[in-house]
Amino acid sequence: MSGTESIKARVTIFGGTGDLTCRKLMPALYNLLVSKQLDPSSHILAIGRRPYTKEEYHAFIHDWIMQFARIGKDGEKLTQFLSMVDYLQMDFMNIDEYSRLQKYNSSLHEEGYAQLLYLAVAPSSFEAIVKGCLTIDLDPNMNIILEKPFGDTLENAKKLNLLLEKAFQPQHLYRIDHYLGKEMIRNILSIRCSNPFFSNIWDSRSIECVEIEATETVGVEKRGGYYDAAGAVKDMVQNHLFQLLSITALEDPSASDIKAQQLAVLQSLRQVTAENIKDSAVFGQYEGYTQEPKISENSTTETYAALKLYVDAPRWKDVPFIIRTGKKCSDRHTSVIITLKPSAPGVPRNRLVIRIQPSEEIQVQFNVKEPGNSDALHQVELEYCQSCMDIFSRNTPEAYERMLNACMHNDAEWFSQWDQIETSWKFIDQLKKAYKEAGIPVYAYPQMADGPVQKDALLPLSMRS
Ligand code: BG6
Repeated sequence: MSGTESIKARVTIFGGTGDLTCRKLMPALYNLLVSKQLDPSSHILAIGRRPYTKEEYHAFIHDWIMQFARIGKDGEKLTQFLSMVDYLQMDFMNIDEYSRLQKYNSSLHEEGYAQLLYLAVAPSSFEAIVKGCLTIDLDPNMNIILEKPFGDTLENAKKLNLLLEKAFQPQHLYRIDHYLGKEMIRNILSIRCSNPFFSNIWDSRSIECVEIEATETVGVEKRGGYYDAAGAVKDMVQNHLFQLLSITALEDPSASDIKAQQLAVLQSLRQVTAENIKDSAVFGQYEGYTQEPKISENSTTETYAALKLYVDAPRWKDVPFIIRTGKKCSDRHTSVIITLKPSAPGVPRNRLVIRIQPSEEIQVQFNVKEPGNSDALHQVELEYCQSCMDIFSRNTPEAYERMLNACMHNDAEWFSQWDQIETSWKFIDQLKKAYKEAGIPVYAYPQMADGPVQKDALLPLSMRS
């Protein structure tokens, strides 16, 4: 794991005025400065097409940082941070403009600085940026961070990977999935591994069903152009939720090569076909979606997806993994819910709930005798809320903060590997194809509902309310 010592870094961000930079990257870099993990002599260059001067860019990101920074929202620190930030107006799709970046870079003294190049842009711009960067002198030790989605189909992801691996050394390519920077996702293996309570029940003898849910209250916001071509399956399942599934289901949490184990889970996912898709997938679209900016009026893109998947490994024999994700749902949360088989028919099921966000919690539901003269069973809950404790919430880095810091320290442990990405695209391409072939509709659901009602049919009969 990357250390907590201060590091000198030079960070170049393509997509300097985009949503990701404003909401996540700049606040994360600011947090790293405030928590003394980023040296104040570091330098951040934001590249964008808008004609900002440096001062105008500072004014632009100031409010974003104030709104989204986790800690230390004081004027002095922010002034110090802004003094580290520069802006270069450049059309990064135009190869001729890279000489301006070259000129800018040559004015900096960069020895002893960790070098990061962040592609916080739509994947359609990756190729032009990579080709442009190849025309100038870059530090051979520079790490390149690639924002998801990594491609939009298996074929395009392969092309992109080929291009990148030709241009840069594989050890310098960091394919980010920010869910891997979330505290409770990292905690899953520790919870399972270090507690016989949980490690002893982590298989099909005890587990009836695993649910992985990530819902949001927001809609597509300003990202209609990207989202309408992607949809919930490619936007959330192929990456974030498959990471979560493969961490939850991996065979040996104490093994040293966790990524190989995650890969094995992805490779064991039972293929969904046109014949079995009816029992495996339900897609929905929130009402009013087609009136959102940049969405085609006849769009059938799913903003909600529920999947019932099986991992074909002895440990998970016949255990359904239900994945649910959607926009414009009634609340924002990400959780893993593990439901155990009942001890006898009719007895309420034990349940382990790992809440990843917005709060970081673990809940265990179990049965006791009802107090008093009754012998009836009564379900109770034990709860550990980590984020409710001020000391932990203050000291827990945001996902992007952790990932940027790791990359500055050349720590690739929690970044996605190409073979994982390739395997998950293979599965997702087939799933999308099967849904289309089977002619299943994308069901409408009201905003602030939890997806289309049809999704409930994916739960095992015994668990339906
Ligand atoms: C992004 C998706 O990767 O993750 C967004 O593109 C989604 O559509 C976001 O809103 C969710 O991230 P988080 O950290 O808020 O759960």
